[in-house]
Amino acid sequence: MKRFRRTKINPRIRNLVQDVYLDVKDFIYPLFVVPGKNIKKESEVLEGIYQMSIDKILDECEELISLGIYNVILFGVVDIKDSIGSSALDSNSLIAKCIKSIKEKYPEIMVVSDLCFCEYTDHGHCGVLDCNDILNNDKTLELLAKQALVHAKSGVDMIAPSGVIDGTIKALRNILDANGFENLPIMSYSTKFASAFYDPFRDLADSSPSFGDRKSYQMDFRDSKQAISRSISDEEDGADILMVKPAMTYLDIVSKIKNSSSLPLAVYNVSGEYMMMKSLMKNSIEVYERTMMELMYSFKRAGADIIISYHAKEVADIMRRK
Ligand code: PBG
Repeated sequence: MKRFRRTKINPRIRNLVQDVYLDVKDFIYPLFVVPGKNIKKESEVLEGIYQMSIDKILDECEELISLGIYNVILFGVVDIKDSIGSSALDSNSLIAKCIKSIKEKYPEIMVVSDLCFCEYTDHGHCGVLDCNDILNNDKTLELLAKQALVHAKSGVDMIAPSGVIDGTIKALRNILDANGFENLPIMSYSTKFASAFYDPFRDLADSSPSFGDRKSYQMDFRDSKQAISRSISDEEDGADILMVKPAMTYLDIVSKIKNSSSLPLAVYNVSGEYMMMKSLMKNSIEVYERTMMELMYSFKRAGADIIISYHAKEVADIMRRK
């Protein structure tokens, strides 16, 4: 008889044969920055996740370091918005100030900037619109390049374009290389689905589209072939890291991209997924923690190298307790 149990009864042997590993260094923690001072406002829908002014973000960084988390991704939440998202193009933009402040005080923290326009446009779409309200891909590219240069000049460590605008990687590589930032990596949200799982995030980032949806640029979850080819195309264009977003319900795509590309792969464990997981806490914290950790391992097992997650601090805490 085949006895699968032989390597499982002794926990030491179980550990020896384990082939999926999780480490705090795999994680990137999202931070939401708002203008002002002394502001730390908890999201109404995402328990434990806050909008913070830069001074509070710095306090948060200290806590992250104490937990062993050295990677963050920044999202800006602004009140002044217009049709092209001008506030994101200012060399002294909220994100620019935040990047500079973190890098000055905590140079050991690796800062990623989310690159998009939905938080900065008054219509909430991820770029400029034509008069027929359709997103203009190529005009948006020019603005994305400008915004990326603002982040680069502020000292960001990696740029993560999340708008799913065609041609983004080439446009960014061109402007970055031309300005002496040829060593600045790009982590592309290369396979980002138009997903209802982002809904809680949009409340936090104040980035809901005022009309329509993002289905004309983000990926269709019913189209599995383009889900793969878009990431491969970003690899060909020079992306340094690929991404699948959301994570939980797209592990088939994670596994396929991992097998078709030699690039490191990230997953974004998004707000709706976090909310679902958090609801387990009502019954039992212990069960919540074990379920959440099981989910994190599933990302790694599917092929993710990097996990962007609101759970990062909890993971670090749980791993330290063990
Ligand atoms: C766009 C962006 C979004 C998320 C990350 N970057 C929202 C969107 O595309 O609508 C979602 C993240 C989450 O749900 O946690 N700037």
